[in-house]
Formats: sequence, structure tokens, C-alpha cells
Amino acid sequence: MSPSLPLRPFLAKMDAYKPGEQLDGPRIVKLNTNENPYPPSPAVLTEIRSEAERLHLYPNPTSESLRRALAAYHGVELEQVLVGNGSDEILRLLIHAVVGPGQALGMVNPSYSLYPVLAKAFEGRTNYYPLIDLVRLPEDVFGGPEPIFILPNPNPPVGTLFTKAEIVRLCRERKGRMVVIDEAYVDFAQRDVVSLLVEFKNLVITRTFSKSFSLAGLRVGYLLGSTDLVAELMKIKDSYNMDRLSQVAAAAAVASVESMYRNRDRIVEERDRTAEELIRLGYRVPESHGNFLFAIHPRAAEHYSLLRQRGILVRYFDQEPLREGIRITIGTPEQMRALLAALKEIVG
Ligand SMILES: Cc1ncc(COP(=O)(O)O)c(C=O)c1O
Repeated sequence: MSPSLPLRPFLAKMDAYKPGEQLDGPRIVKLNTNENPYPPSPAVLTEIRSEAERLHLYPNPTSESLRRALAAYHGVELEQVLVGNGSDEILRLLIHAVVGPGQALGMVNPSYSLYPVLAKAFEGRTNYYPLIDLVRLPEDVFGGPEPIFILPNPNPPVGTLFTKAEIVRLCRERKGRMVVIDEAYVDFAQRDVVSLLVEFKNLVITRTFSKSFSLAGLRVGYLLGSTDLVAELMKIKDSYNMDRLSQVAAAAAVASVESMYRNRDRIVEERDRTAEELIRLGYRVPESHGNFLFAIHPRAAEHYSLLRQRGILVRYFDQEPLREGIRITIGTPEQMRALLAALKEIVG
């Protein structure tokens, strides 16, 4: 870093979040960043084309139509919805609002590795609660002291779905502190906790259009929470944080939600079929409720490299406790056949 730049010292001490590789090409089988292999509803493209004629005008600053559509979809008030540039922006806003210098964010480990990076960006730190056998919540997670605790449900990279009773207990025992349930993958699990918002004012739910709705390239996420929280976060978001195309496209995706359900069902079916095949090949595969599987094998790192040489990208996390697994996004049946054929050669 150049000593001539007046940058704050914490930046030199932090590492950036490492997203999965975004390689492209006709021969790449891309199963590494939990995208949806199917296109969004055709209504989305129709809306984008028509809205493109208005790009000379600023978008609605609070994404009001989209928030209205989301409020109706979830049965909550418009004022309980905040929309952002991917759920990553929503998570950043939450952490910005709660975590100050030296304060801690709480999370389980393993989980989504962006959270600690965001905490560092606000000079905070992270308390990790190691999951038992990669899947079970430890007892001390419930009463922890952090002002904000973030739990994805289902939780990547394994795909564990925590129960509603566990989330109720988290909200109860962390009263007065924020409990964020990151439901990025919830449509694949079909068991959300939106109904708990009435009872728990400290509960916040984040969602994304990147996974089940096939819109990772657009960047749309949102949160559902108390009206007070949304009003406060509105003060620190960018004034025009959502462009016109994203606002109309996401609203069209909600209006044609049956298209998402059809794709979701195909992915869930393929996930369960692939899990059985992987088990037959000798992997241990914990039950997943997301659009991905975590396949455990003592030679996982080698398998990752050999797949890569064959143009098949999966995700390998070179960190404890994940070194013995590869995370495989569920693609089309054709992509999964290619993956399984390659693994048969590799394992055999
Ligand atoms: C648990 C979890 N939350 C949030 C996100 C980010 O979603 P978005 O694309 O809306 O920023 C991801 C992306 O992989 C994720 O795994």
C-alpha cells in the first residue's frame, strides 16, 4: 500500500471476501457459486426491455413498487421491507447500523464467509460458534452477548436447515439484540420464519433474488424487519441503491412466481438424486436443504483439482473444518451427469 494515501489503518489489516471463480465458456460446467441453472421467467425480460427506454431518468429512490409487491407476497407492511443491491448490500447496511469499532458480530462456523469481512469493514470483530459435526447448533449460541447474530437458514456450505423452535429460542434468549436469519436459500427448503416477525421485534430476515429466482446477475436482495429498523436503514443506504432495471425485473419475478416454483422443484429433485449417486460413489453427504450439496471425502482437495482440469468447477474451501469436502451447486440434469461421470473416473 502506498504510504502517501490517507487510508485508515484497519484496511491494511483486513482481507477482501473471496467470491467463487466466475469463469465462463461453452465447455465450462459451472457448479461453484450456487447460481440457478435455469433462466428467470420470460416476464422479467419483457419488463427489462420496456424499462430500458427510461434509463435517462433516475429510479424510484426507495423501490416503492417492488417493496409493495414483496410486502404483499409475504403478508407484511410496505414499511417492513427494505430492498438492496443483492442481500450482500442489505447485510452491509445491518452491520453498519449495529457493529462499531471493537464490537462483535456473532455467527456459526462454518457459514457464509462474507459476514466477518463486513464486520471488519466497520472495524468490528467476529465471535464464531463452531457447529457440532458441521450441522448442529452448540448450546452457547443461544445466550451469546453480541449485538447482532447472523444465521443462514439453510446454512451453507452444508445446507443444514435449523428448526423454527431453535430460531424462536435464539430470538427469545437474545432479546434486545438483533437476530438475522439469512434466508438466501429458503425457497429450496420451503420452511421460512416470516410468521415470527409479529412476535419478535429483534428478528430480521434477509432474502435474495440470486438463487431461486435466477437473478444473480441483477443484484437484488431485501430484508423484512420492524418498521423502525427499516426507517433507520433508509438513512444510510445509497439514495438510489436500486437501478430501474432491477426494480422492475424483481417485481416481474414476484408476479410470475410459479416459474420460480417450477425451477425450484426441478433443482430439489436433481439435488436428491445427485446426493444418492454421490453416496454410492463413497462420499458422505449431509442432508442439504439448499441448491447445493457438500460432499465429504478424505481426498476432496484432489477431486476438486481433477474436476477443474476437466472443466467442471465446484467450490473447495481450503480452511478448517471444510478441507474434506467439495460444495457442488445443483445444475441441470445434463450438468450433473457430466459431474457424476467425471467423479466416477476420479474415484474409481
Ligand atoms: C448465505 C448467503 N447469503 C447471501 C448471499 C448473497 O446473496 P446476494 O447475491 O443477494 O448478494 C449468499 C451468496 O452466495 C449466501 O450464500
